Amino acid sequence: MNSSHTSLPRIAVLATGGTIAGEAGDASKTSGYKAGVLGVDKLLGAVPSLSQVARIHAEQVASIDSKDMTPALWATLCTRVNALLAQDDIDGIVITHGTDTLEETAYLLHLTVKSEKPVVLTAAMRPATALSADGPLNLLNAVTVAASRASWKQGVLVAFNNQIHCARDVTKTSTYAVDAFRSPEGGALGWVQDGQVEFQRAVVRPHTLRSPFQISADLPVVEIVTSYAGASRAAIDAFVAAGVKGLVIAGTGNGSLHSALQQAVAEAVRQGVAVVRSSRVGAGHVMRNGAAPDDALGSITADALNPYKARVLLMLALAAGTASADLQSVFDTY
Ligand code: SIN
Repeated sequence: MNSSHTSLPRIAVLATGGTIAGEAGDASKTSGYKAGVLGVDKLLGAVPSLSQVARIHAEQVASIDSKDMTPALWATLCTRVNALLAQDDIDGIVITHGTDTLEETAYLLHLTVKSEKPVVLTAAMRPATALSADGPLNLLNAVTVAASRASWKQGVLVAFNNQIHCARDVTKTSTYAVDAFRSPEGGALGWVQDGQVEFQRAVVRPHTLRSPFQISADLPVVEIVTSYAGASRAAIDAFVAAGVKGLVIAGTGNGSLHSALQQAVAEAVRQGVAVVRSSRVGAGHVMRNGAAPDDALGSITADALNPYKARVLLMLALAAGTASADLQSVFDTY
C-alpha cells in the first residue's frame, strides 16, 4: 500500500502475527480466538488514516502466536529490519507482534538493530474482530511514533495504549487489560495521541549503534529456573546435564535462591555454565552479593532486567564470546 503524499516519511510495517492479527467467530469474544490469522494488508486496511501519516511499505515476516517465537525468527526479523533501515527510502519501521513475547523481541532488537532510525513495536490485547478492538489505534499510533523525528536515536520503542515505552524497561502486566504494558522502574518514555508525539524522558543505557551485540540465528541455549517455596535443584541439574550454556534464575525478592538451588548454582558455575540472578518480583533491581553471595557462587546479577530480558542479554553476550569475568559489566551496562 503506497500513498501519493510523497513528502511523508516512508515507514515499513513488518507483520509477525499476534492478537492484533487475531480473528474470533464472535465479536464479543476476547479470548479463545486464533492469533496471527489476518495478513498485514487487512491490518492496514482497517486504518485508512495511515495514509495521512506515512507512506507505507508492508511485509508479512511471519504469522505466529508470539508464544512460539524462536531465535531463528528473531534472526530473520532483525536481519530484515537492518536491511530496510539501511535503505535511504525507509525512514522507520513498525513491527506488529503478539503481546506475549513482545518485550523479549523488543529488547533483542534494541541490542542488535544497527541504526538511529525509529523501530516501534505494537500489538493488541483484543483480536481484530472484537468489539472495541485496540489494534487499529495502536497501529496508527505506532506509525505516528515511527514517522516522528523525535523518535530517532531512542532505540527500539513500544507504542501501546497511547504510551511510548523503552524496549529495555517495558513488560506485559495484565492478561486481559488494554493498558497491559508498563515500564515498572522508570515509567513510560512519553505519549502519542491524535498525531502528536511527546518524549518526557530519554533512554540512558546504550543500544542499537552503541551496542556491540550482533544477531545470530544460532544463539547459545539459556534456560530459566524459578525459585519458590519448596523448590528443588532438579531443573538446574537437568538443564546442566542437557548442556545449556547459561541459566537465569527467577529468584524470590532480591533474586534470592532457595537453599536447594544455591548449591546447584555453585556446581553449575564450576562446570562452566553462566548463571544470572534476576527477580520474579516484576520491579526493582537485584543487588550484587545482596540476597546471595555472588562472589562465592560465581553468579552474575541482572540489574533491573526481568528474567526473560536477562535471558536475551545473556544469550547475546555468550554469542559474542564474552568472558565470564566480563559478564557482570555487561549486565551493569546494557
Ligand atoms: C500472541 O502473543 O501472539 C498472542 C497474545 C497477544 O497477542 O495478545
